[in-house]
Amino acid sequence: MAKVTLSHLKADVGGWVGHSSLHPALITKAQDYLSKAKQAKLLIDFHVTQCGDDLQLITTHRKGPDHEEIHKLAWDTFVACTKEAERLKLYGAGQDLLSDAFSGNIRGMGPGYAEMEIEERQSEPVLFFMADKTSPGAWNLPVFRIFADPFNTAGLVIDPKFHDGFRFEVLDVKESRKIELNCPEEMYDLLILIGSPERFIIKAVYRKSDGEIAAVSSTQKLSLMAGRYVGKDDPVMMARCQSGFPAVGEVLNPFAFPHLVSGWMRGSHYGPLMPVSVPEANPSRFDGPPRVVCLGFQLADGKLIGPRDMFADPSFDLARKRANEVADYVRAHGPFEPHRLPLEEMEYTTLPEVMEKLESRFKGV
Ligand code: F6R
Ligand code: MG
Ligand code: MG
Repeated sequence: MAKVTLSHLKADVGGWVGHSSLHPALITKAQDYLSKAKQAKLLIDFHVTQCGDDLQLITTHRKGPDHEEIHKLAWDTFVACTKEAERLKLYGAGQDLLSDAFSGNIRGMGPGYAEMEIEERQSEPVLFFMADKTSPGAWNLPVFRIFADPFNTAGLVIDPKFHDGFRFEVLDVKESRKIELNCPEEMYDLLILIGSPERFIIKAVYRKSDGEIAAVSSTQKLSLMAGRYVGKDDPVMMARCQSGFPAVGEVLNPFAFPHLVSGWMRGSHYGPLMPVSVPEANPSRFDGPPRVVCLGFQLADGKLIGPRDMFADPSFDLARKRANEVADYVRAHGPFEPHRLPLEEMEYTTLPEVMEKLESRFKGV
């Protein structure tokens, strides 16, 4: 059986209203584009959805990761949706399209993406996570817990199929380099790095016993690429589940803790990551709090059997309530850290102007 590639590509091409959500016309437009590609047999299957103001293209095909035709299809779809957004005067139309022309690969052009090529198993459950108003480091805590924390993932202790543990590929975004670390043996080394999610970001996770890919995330840093703020790089992540990987419930369980992530208003505040159903992912209060949604599919010869809206479950009600309480608490700090990000990490700042204006009034002490 030929391998199947899962490509999840996303971009913010215009918000409705402000940065809170996505207009249905953009979903329809994207579906038109991907339907044609499916008819032309470029795609096996696809699902178009949204998380907040981000347009999400979940696709399957046989071309492998980083394939020009697939990336061009996504790019053309985002460009067409941008035109639609401009027509409706949606907010920030085309904000994630940093370049005017496509040149082979979408990397560095603004959209975010995560891809994996797999040999589809007898039964292949896959979860696609999407977050809005935060950055890729938001996955570090839950992904660590899924693949390395025995208090979350019982299978690490009692399932012989992955008792050996997992290998983490970690990006150092400041130095543009990466490292692989094995768990459980290098767990403490891993944690000193990924506990600082603005700098170290988990890119992928592999099963140690045979190197099978288990999870992959998007790690495009919009702000660094453009050299200025053009929109949060609201990340995506996909994970394979069951039969030698953590169970669906083990992959979802860490999201019952609404941990603090960077992002929220103007990409410059810490706030709790709230797990919600797709219709509830419309961050409105102070442009937040940050949201995470998860769609589950079974693969059938590359076809996407689904989606199931995985956080549409009362077992996440308490997480949502806690997230609202934490949101209230941190919001009360207003412009003070640790609600506001440290000076050098804010996406928006007035610091250079303020410093220049006040420079002559600073006195030595
Ligand atoms: C955060 C985000 C929003 C905007 C904010 C200001 O990721 O997208 O919080 O940063 O609404 O937006 P502008 O500068 O477009 O008025
Ligand atoms: Mg936006
Ligand atoms: Mg967004």
